[in-house]
Amino acid sequence: MSSPPHPSRPPPPARPVAIAGCGAHVPARVLTNRDLERMVETSHEWIVERTGMRERRIAADHEATSDLALEAARKALQSARLAPADVGMIAVATITPDHPFPNTACLVQSRLGARHAFCVGLEAACSGFLYGLEMARRLVETGAVPNALVIGAEKMSAILDWKDRSTCVLFGDGAGAAVLKPAPAGRRGILSTVLGSDGSLADLLYLPAGGSRRPASAATVAAGEHYLRMRGREVFRHAVTHMAQAARTALHRAGLGIQDIRWVIPHQANLRIIAAIGERLGCPADRFIINVERYGNTSAASIGLALDEAVRDGRIRDGDLVLMVAFGAGFTWGASVLEWIQPT
Ligand code: UT7
Repeated sequence: MSSPPHPSRPPPPARPVAIAGCGAHVPARVLTNRDLERMVETSHEWIVERTGMRERRIAADHEATSDLALEAARKALQSARLAPADVGMIAVATITPDHPFPNTACLVQSRLGARHAFCVGLEAACSGFLYGLEMARRLVETGAVPNALVIGAEKMSAILDWKDRSTCVLFGDGAGAAVLKPAPAGRRGILSTVLGSDGSLADLLYLPAGGSRRPASAATVAAGEHYLRMRGREVFRHAVTHMAQAARTALHRAGLGIQDIRWVIPHQANLRIIAAIGERLGCPADRFIINVERYGNTSAASIGLALDEAVRDGRIRDGDLVLMVAFGAGFTWGASVLEWIQPT
């Protein structure tokens, strides 16, 4: 019989884990600020000035979150050269699942043919992709799974009140995905991650009905309680504070300063939030990957979508140090530093 581990024994050396490939998908339909002008009392100028957004993608009625996730997943597996049958785990981060259950990852698994994967749904709103990466990374690191497919996917258009100008102009639909594998010998991959939450502020950004607290009924539907509600100004303030702090902590844990970082990929909620984080971190604007003008806020999809775009257009290159940072409902937040390893 083996003896229990001595409490002072150091943990076995962790093996570095890296993003081995990524992918993204957005629906075809483009909704511009001018289109929104015809739907609610707003203006292209207001939206651009207050958010930086110009257009966003909206899924078709027949498209669900798993459809967007599936396309992003296929591209990520292709770029990581991983066959669906060899996937060990699938995590789908979303606040707009196809159904309350089963989890959306199971639906993606079935259509991918990833029959050996176990599947988990993850609800951390806009921080979901980073939450998923960290939880999957730890499972790959310990050898519990050989690899993991992490997807952030949203059909935000399904939970928006299209009569509420204070929210409906802000969000869009899409999906981003990444495959995690043990890093190649001598490479570092993910260097540090910090995650945090504060549930005491949950009511600043939430969806009132449709869960067990207020099950869907004719009355909740009539009151529009199955739509997202947000107190934007307060959320803005917390987003800046927590993202800047999480980024600093992740950098510190990686033994790096902001000057070492080639690219920052922030959650794409608002160009002014991104600018405020840049100021607080002392990081010039040209080191941020930004696509909020084309996709709006895609919640859990946002960072994966921006990562994939910047990898495919050649901005992010092998060896670049990348800082990802997110904030969302819950509240939840997170930051992660990694050395990009270009898939070969
Ligand atoms: O992803 C999860 C986290 N989410 C976020 O991080 C979002 C954080 N919040 C924000 O990005 C911003 O707070 C918003 C973009 C939501 C709003 O910008 P703001 O500068 O904070 O505007 P505000 O809420 O203080 O509203 C200013 C004015 C109000 O009018 P009054 O009361 O000053 O007369 C609003 O009614 O702008 C009005 N307004 C609009 N006007 C034209 C609100 N929405 C619109 C609109 N078009 N779409």
